[in-house]
Amino acid sequence: MVNIEIKINGKIKCIDVNPRMRLIDLLRSLGLTSVKEGCSEGECGTCTVLLDGKAVTSCTVLAFQVDGHEVTTVEGLQTNGELDVIQQAFIENDAVQCGFCTPGMIMAVKSLLNENPWYFGSSPPSCR
Ligand code: FES
Repeated sequence: MVNIEIKINGKIKCIDVNPRMRLIDLLRSLGLTSVKEGCSEGECGTCTVLLDGKAVTSCTVLAFQVDGHEVTTVEGLQTNGELDVIQQAFIENDAVQCGFCTPGMIMAVKSLLNENPWYFGSSPPSCR
C-alpha cells in the first residue's frame, strides 16, 4: 500500500491505496459516483475529472500519481449549494442526453474554460 495525500473537492484526504489502483476506482470508492466508467481506456471521456484544474481521464491515471495534487469531480463544483454556471447551462440547454457521460462532459467544459476564460464573454486574445 502507498499512503497518498490528495485534495478532493476541496477537502484534504490521507488514504492508503494499492499502487495499481486507478483514480476512477479510488473516487468511486469514496462515494463520488458522478465519475462513470465507459471504455476503460481513455477514449470516451465519461470518467473525466479535473487534476489541478485540467481535464484527465481518471481511468488512465493511477491513484498514487495524484499524491500532492487536487482532484475535482462534478460533486465539487457547487458553491454554497449553488450549481456551477456550466452545470446550470447544461440544464437550461437540455444538454444531458441519457446522463451517463454528462459529468464527464461538464468537467471537460470546465477544463476548456479554465484554459480559455475568454470564451466567457471577454474578448479573445489578439493575434496582433
Ligand atoms: Fe472512457 Fe475513462 S472510461 S475515458
